Amino acid sequence: SADAGSRDDRAAGPVVRPRRLRRTAALRELVAETSLRPAQLVLPVFVREGADAPVPISSMPGVVQHTRDSLRAAAVEAAELGLGGIMLFGVPETKDARGSGAVDPGGILNLGIADVVAEVGDALPVMSDLCLDEFTDHGHCGVLDAAGRVDNDATLEVYAEMARAQAAAGVDVVGPSGMMDGQVAVIRAALDGAGASDVAVLAYSAKYASAFYGPFREAVDSSLVGDRRTYQQDGRNGLEGVREALLDVAEGADMVMVKPALAYLDVLRRVRDAVDVPVAAYNISGEYAMVEAAAAKGWIDREPAILETLMSIRRAGADVVLTYWAAEAARLLRP
Ligand code: PBG
Repeated sequence: SADAGSRDDRAAGPVVRPRRLRRTAALRELVAETSLRPAQLVLPVFVREGADAPVPISSMPGVVQHTRDSLRAAAVEAAELGLGGIMLFGVPETKDARGSGAVDPGGILNLGIADVVAEVGDALPVMSDLCLDEFTDHGHCGVLDAAGRVDNDATLEVYAEMARAQAAAGVDVVGPSGMMDGQVAVIRAALDGAGASDVAVLAYSAKYASAFYGPFREAVDSSLVGDRRTYQQDGRNGLEGVREALLDVAEGADMVMVKPALAYLDVLRRVRDAVDVPVAAYNISGEYAMVEAAAAKGWIDREPAILETLMSIRRAGADVVLTYWAAEAARLLRP
């Protein structure tokens, strides 16, 4: 038998006991590796042209297409909650082949940007989707050529115009999400040429073709037929996500994004390790809908599931998380 302190006394049990640091909430707090703060969360919002009341999105319970007034109120609330930003998507009343509503200073997205900026000033970073899919009648993220294919370089010209319109509306950060080659460089040059060198670019760099965008299509009344596989990435490719992020940084992106988040947490980690700019991840519509649907059925405990989801994305490497739960999570995180 051993004297006190002996390490080979079997009866005393394991010497290394990780549970010691899990014993109390205060100890767990002391050794927590990952944080989740409101300032790390960005709220994506939809603003619908011509709406006189907010329109619920059935596949995203709790999320609405805003009127211009309810959008302003949501932005004020986001600022009060200390969120890291608000990301605007427009839902125009009419769409056409070139997505004209996107470049029109009187288009719903540009009006929404100006409304929100007027309301929150510098208190809340105002971000906007820079993509044509909400504005085109065919639903693609770019303009089409005579054969009906998405025309990369013709689309870049429209993106440049869209960037100038969003900058004129007062946006802080543009979020090009169309996955056209060279889009970041063209948008950077367009902004700089328009005297908007302060406007930052959050590049949707590693954006994968995904079934989890489903509810978003309802959210923006998308008219897309078919898919986006000629421009969004193939989910089998992780290295390609890293390459896209490096390319965007080289083209002048101030931040890069991985999207979707949950099915691509490995890509998120690889991108975080590969670049030297802030990395965002988008907890997308289908990821939101899965949790909401399971919670509505009583199959999972909703609030812990939300926080666990967001924490997993932070732990995987996201500095910034775009989430439809941003406002609610900020409230849950209040001490
Ligand atoms: C494209 C865009 C999409 C989303 C954000 N920007 C749709 C798509 O690429 O098909 C999806 C966001 C979500 O699903 O929550 N403008």
